[in-house]
Formats: sequence, structure tokens, C-alpha cells
Amino acid sequence: MKGVVFNILADMVEETAGLEVWNDIVEEVSPSKGAYTAAQSYSDEELFALVGAVCEKLQIPREDAIRAFGKFMFGQLASRYPIFVQQQPDLIRFLKSVDSVIHVEVEKLYTSPHLPEFKYSEPAPGKLIMHYHSERKLCFLAEGLIMGAAEHYGSQIELKHPVCLHHGADHCELEIETAI
Ligand code: HEM
Repeated sequence: MKGVVFNILADMVEETAGLEVWNDIVEEVSPSKGAYTAAQSYSDEELFALVGAVCEKLQIPREDAIRAFGKFMFGQLASRYPIFVQQQPDLIRFLKSVDSVIHVEVEKLYTSPHLPEFKYSEPAPGKLIMHYHSERKLCFLAEGLIMGAAEHYGSQIELKHPVCLHHGADHCELEIETAI
């Protein structure tokens, strides 16, 4: 995972629990000792170990922590790369641009990022299903990112996750229903 993701995790833990907590966690589990360069790749195991330590320290379940991190990450990404939200007038169009525009640009900005693949279906007006494919099984991160995006666009959504990699499926389905 790119250093930028570690930097955002550090910001979140420092903001919500304090610098000392982050320093303790880094001391415990980080071979890089918390020095992450945005464009460089670090092992997924290191990120997962950090997330595990955060959950233990703050006594929160892993799924909730990853979801909260996704929501926080959206705000950070939107302020680092405002163009992606500026280009899209509403939530649904924004979400549909993640695979074909945003992550395509991320491929150009960073050397060999590991990105998920999204396929889309729209079974009814105001309803979008994002079909998430990734070996990393970070669907709860995707949920948090979607919730962050909904907040950014001021959209009330209902988010369901009826098909999940963590329950034996070969992809996840994230159903977003907006009030229309
Ligand atoms: C709601 C919108 C978005 C969703 C659902 C989404 C989803 C994801 C997920 C789930 C991952 C983890 C990798 C994996 O699962 O295999 C990821 C990675 C990433 N995404 Fe997105 N993303 C969104 C918006 C954005 C935006 C706005 C940016 C801004 C540039 C961005 C940049 C990145 C970067 C840099 C990574 C890490 C790549 C790496 O570590 O190699 N994403 N995205």
C-alpha cells in the first residue's frame, strides 16, 4: 500500500487519539518506524498490523475501524486531489468515475499502485451497485469511502453489502440507494 495511505492513517489516529498513541503504535509494530513517503509502497502486512494495533488500543472492532478510516480517507483524498470531486456534479456520477477516471489517474500518479476493480450496475433510478473486486478484501474501506463521498455531496444514502468476499463470494456488492 502506498505511503499516502499510511500518512492518512497517522493523521486520523493523531486527530482522534493523540500523537502519543500513534507513536506507541508505531514503536510496537512498524518496521519503518512511522517514516512513510507518500509515493513509496510499503507492505500490506505493515498496514494491517498498524490497523490491528489501533483497534486493540482504542478497543474498536476491526470492521468499524476500517470503515471509519475509509470515511476519514475520503476527506483527505478530496482535499489532496480536489479535481476529482469538482469534475462530478453528484454522488452517483462521482462513484461511477472511480474506476474509469480516478483510479486510472492514480495509476499515472503512482508507480504500480494496487487498486481494486469496480464494475457497475444500475438496476433502478437512484440505485447503484458497485461490484468490488480485489485480492485485498478491503470492502469495508470502500464502504467508508462511499459514506465519506455521500457526506461530501450532501446525499442521504442507504448502503447495503449483501454479497461479500468475507462470506465466501468472489466479489462484493455495495448497493447505494439515494433519495430521489
Ligand atoms: C468513493 C470513492 C472511492 C472508492 C470506493 C475507492 C476505493 C478504494 C479501495 C477499496 C482501495 C484499497 C485497495 C484495494 O481494495 O485493493 C483504494 C486504494 C486507493 N485509492 Fe481509491 N477509492 C475511492 C476514491 C479515491 C480517490 C478520490 C482517490 C484520489 C486520488 C483515490 C486514490 C486511491 C489510492 C492512492 C489508493 C492506494 C493505492 C495503493 O496503495 O497502491 N481513491 N481505493
